[in-house]
Order: sequence, then structure tokens, then C-alpha cells
Amino acid sequence: MRKPLIAGNWKMNTKLEEAERLVRDMLAELDSIGNVEKVLCPPFISLAAINKLIKGTSIELGAQNMYSEDKGAYTGEISPLMLIDLCDFVILGHSERRQYFAEIDEMINKKIGKALESGLKPILCVGESLEDNEAGRTEEKITSQVNAGLAGISPTSQLVIAYEPIWAIGTGKAATGKQANATISLIRSMLANTWNQETAKAVRILYGGSVTGSNIAEFIVEPDIDGALVGGASLKTDDFISIVRQTANLKAAR
Ligand code: PGA
Repeated sequence: MRKPLIAGNWKMNTKLEEAERLVRDMLAELDSIGNVEKVLCPPFISLAAINKLIKGTSIELGAQNMYSEDKGAYTGEISPLMLIDLCDFVILGHSERRQYFAEIDEMINKKIGKALESGLKPILCVGESLEDNEAGRTEEKITSQVNAGLAGISPTSQLVIAYEPIWAIGTGKAATGKQANATISLIRSMLANTWNQETAKAVRILYGGSVTGSNIAEFIVEPDIDGALVGGASLKTDDFISIVRQTANLKAAR
């Protein structure tokens, strides 16, 4: 019912030439894998070139951030109007944006509303710190981030949520499939309560944090996990293709 989704978050990696090469290396094989939505999120400056490379394929693009206004005196920012011709998705509220660029829930909430209004599908990232996790505050943190991120937003299946525990990002120490599924089903029941059952069933919720070709299966077999937001491994052609292929096969087998 929910189409699985694998998104590659390239973060601040790849110059234009490297980005084009990476896409050329994985394009044909990724394109040939059905039953899973494949989204690449390269740096802003590569979006236009990659948009041309993926034309006519089943691969889609996402941005890693955007500002919540259409245009104006906002030096250094990128607007949804600039992205809409190039991308389908936009990652919002990634923990690195929250941590290093002082993004707070209210800003993220504005961006979510603006993305949806502009026709971009937001990938809202939420996740608890190691300290919160160890203190048993995971549920409380996730609940507050989801509620704040979605405040005033009308129910929509265009939304994607990525549960990314901060302690699992880039550390090689992924959550277990069971841990991730427990938090993701909590998020789904929150959506059912604040929105409605039907939309909650339709929204894709991903796991993110040290996902590789070696552990993707553990997440994909879980009933509430609809795919992954992949950082480091999305820069490695073979690993990323393997993640997408296993996702297609395992979800199709269910
Ligand atoms: P990682 O990053 O796969 O390198 O842990 C995931 C993310 O930050 O989206």
C-alpha cells in the first residue's frame, strides 16, 4: 500500500563533476529496480545538472534544505520556487541543521508548510540524542518534534518522516530494526491521533542512521518501516544499489 522509498542524503559532499560521475555510475542499475521510489539528494549546486541526467528515468531528486519564503533579501538561502522545477522532495529539520545551524522546531514547521504549499514533498527528520535515549526520553523527544514540526499542517500523504536517532547518524552504530520499528510505529499512531487513521496509514516513515547494504534488511522487514534515509552509504555506488535492490525485493516478498 505504501511504496517503499530510499533517499540518499549526500550532505556536503561532491563537487559538481563528482556528483555527475556518481549519478552516471548508478543511473542504469538504479533505474532498472522497480517497486521502490529512489531519491537522490545532492548539494544544491548540482541539482540542475543532475536533473538533466535523470530525465526520463525513474529516479527523483530532493534538496537537503530550503528557506520558507519564495524570494527576497535572504542572502545565501534557496527558495521553494527555485527548487520546484528541479526536485520532488526536500529534506527538512535534519539533526545537523538543528545542531549546527540553530534550526528550531518553529522554523522547521514553517518550512514544512511552505514546501507542501509549493508542491514539494517534505522529508521531516526527527530523532533523539544519545543523552535523551539513555535517559529514557526518546518517546517524549520524538513526540515533541513531530507535534511541533506538524503544528497547523493539514493531513497529507505527501509528507514523509525520517526517524534518525542522532546517536546512529554517521557513527556506524545503527539502531536495531526492532528499536526503529517501535519508534516509527509510535510516530504512526501519533499521526492517527492528530490527523486521522487513513492518512497515518499512507504516510511513509523511514529509518536513518548508519544504514548500509549489510543492515538494510533488518529495517525493511519491519512492518512500519517504509524505507531509509541513507547518508554515507549513498555515496558508494555498490552499497546504495544494494540497499535499493534489497528494499525492492524484501518489500515485494511481504
Ligand atoms: P548516515 O547518515 O547514513 O551517514 O548515518 C544518515 C543521515 O544523516 O541522513
